[in-house]
Amino acid sequence: MALTPRFPAFLHGGDYNPDQWLKYPEVLEEDIRLMQAAKVNCVSVGIFAWAALEPVEGEYDFAWLDRVIDRLWAAGIRVDLATPSGARPAWIAQKYPEVLRVDEYFRRHHFGGRHNHCLTSPVYREKVRAIDTALAERYASHPAVILWHLSNEYSGDCRCPLCQEKFREYLRRRYGSLEALNEHWWTGFWSMKYTDWSQVESPSPIGQDANPAMWVDWRRFSTQQCKDFILMEKAAVHSVNPELPVTANLMQRFWDYDYFDLAEAIDVVSWDSYPLWGSGNDLVQASEHAMTHDLMRSLKGQNFLLMESTPSQVNWHAVNRMKKPGMHLLSSMLPLAHGADSVMYFQWRKGRGGSEMFHGAVVGHDGTADTRTFREVRSVGEALEKLAPLYATEKKQARVCILYDWQNLWALDYAQFARKGDMRYTETVNAHYRAFWQAGVSVDFRDCRACTDLSPYSLVIAPMLFMTHGGIEEKLNSFVRGGGTLVMTYCAGMIGEDGLAWQGRTPHGLTETLGIHALELDALFDGDANTLIRERDQWRLTRLCEVIEADTAQVLGRYGSDYYAGQPCLTVNACGAGKAYYLAAEPEEAFLHRFYGELIREMGIPKAIGSQLPDGVVAQERGGAVFLMNFAPSSGDVLLDHPCRDLLTDRTLSGKITMNPLEVLVLEKV
Ligand code: GAL
Repeated sequence: MALTPRFPAFLHGGDYNPDQWLKYPEVLEEDIRLMQAAKVNCVSVGIFAWAALEPVEGEYDFAWLDRVIDRLWAAGIRVDLATPSGARPAWIAQKYPEVLRVDEYFRRHHFGGRHNHCLTSPVYREKVRAIDTALAERYASHPAVILWHLSNEYSGDCRCPLCQEKFREYLRRRYGSLEALNEHWWTGFWSMKYTDWSQVESPSPIGQDANPAMWVDWRRFSTQQCKDFILMEKAAVHSVNPELPVTANLMQRFWDYDYFDLAEAIDVVSWDSYPLWGSGNDLVQASEHAMTHDLMRSLKGQNFLLMESTPSQVNWHAVNRMKKPGMHLLSSMLPLAHGADSVMYFQWRKGRGGSEMFHGAVVGHDGTADTRTFREVRSVGEALEKLAPLYATEKKQARVCILYDWQNLWALDYAQFARKGDMRYTETVNAHYRAFWQAGVSVDFRDCRACTDLSPYSLVIAPMLFMTHGGIEEKLNSFVRGGGTLVMTYCAGMIGEDGLAWQGRTPHGLTETLGIHALELDALFDGDANTLIRERDQWRLTRLCEVIEADTAQVLGRYGSDYYAGQPCLTVNACGAGKAYYLAAEPEEAFLHRFYGELIREMGIPKAIGSQLPDGVVAQERGGAVFLMNFAPSSGDVLLDHPCRDLLTDRTLSGKITMNPLEVLVLEKV
């Protein structure tokens, strides 16, 4: 399916800010020439252009944008047109202070920066709706415009009186009565009982700070406020042409909002990927971003867009390394291998001032095409042209599904137990993911709500599923009974959706399927370790060790030391037509590679390349082609299953081939 039906092609381009250059018409002319030279076919325009579009309240200036869009169109360059709500002009902040965000210390912020407005404020919403509608009326039918880029990286929350009232409304809807709220938030503890709705306010470090259930509700509420705001923006731009898809650029490891929920409000998922290449282990960086690519693809079960990436370096780390020669092509192929239909950058041209004046760009302050960055960008443009047959193709249905659940993430981060504030849910999911990714196996993600149909999968993994909700217990039980293989780990099924601890044996609702129950959760100090002893193997365990009892499960591995030495640590239980493993402690990563490697073999789960891949080389299938990528600093040999043609170089390859450091091949069987 084409994500941008008006222009069904891989998009190559990035954030373009002509509004910063209006006094330099010659630069704008030169931009078009350079874009063509760089094989750019689409740019995101107007993301932070509100002050240029509406310099005075109610007076729009579209003349400059008309010129820009017409010139781009004449040059064959498409436009991903932004709504400007990510940063507002000074006049609106001055005249309507209610648009300014109130922080967790209940301080109202001053004008400045971006992403810092109140998403509840009726004035803000009205002004955004008005300018979005005006933009839509003017440009929604322009042939150059192929996509709406709603705002920019929606994030954060506000605690102004308007938001407090909305929070109370949300809680009323969710719980029905104050009595129910008191019960779910367990307010008998520390005399926190509310006797009137007006007493309820958002959590804050200087107020209600310690109630995990309340914090999770605050995050749910913030997600809803943002989703509602997105729907408002979407309705405004769709009021003219509902056919033009909308996207919102999401972020990696984003914590504030539940992206599975938020993604329901947009047509196309896009995201901004900034791996920290050269900071130590590029393979680990690549795996974290590969996981996010798969997560983004899973949000709507369709391809996604890479909306931002740097062509060279960023400027917001303490140390901002340049991409080494070759890394740009390799890192641009990684998202494609996972289902991206674009390679877009932040930013097209470096500004002359502002905090991002030294952030990497396709065109630097020298203003020429004669730079390494420009040449490498052009070569990505050429690669995308060669890969055109792969446009809009999808990955084959994955057989492996990993649960990644935002509500569980919040619950683990807010709970005060075990390794407090250091539960590392996302890192743990990534460690499990990496075992498949490095083996060349495709993975989908689901959360508790979104896993309505597990039937396409043979293997489901639920790492650290502390909060069980959305009926996940029954979904997993019937998946196993029906013949699926489930892997769960420590901390499973301890609390419910309302944040209250499940009473009775845990993992809640899953003890029969798993054939075990949990007894104690031990947390280890840094530097301490235990051992998992499995037949003749021994594996190091750190951080979290759960003591469990095997009821009907077979014990595959036991603890090597401490007062629980000899007790089960790895079990498997036959249940119906399937089986369920339980891993009770956090193992060294090599164990996960061994364990899942065995499952992949036993279950016949397909890999992109049949042979063993050398360290650092990864393979991913998409549209019948195999992307072979070397993230290691050394070369490695790969044995090809069939003679293949590399779509990037048109070479035919067969047998044993050597992958150079940072090399990428896109192979099609011949
Ligand atoms: C993104 C943001 C861009 C730019 C970029 C710099 O998060 O959307 O506007 O700031 O980071 O890397």
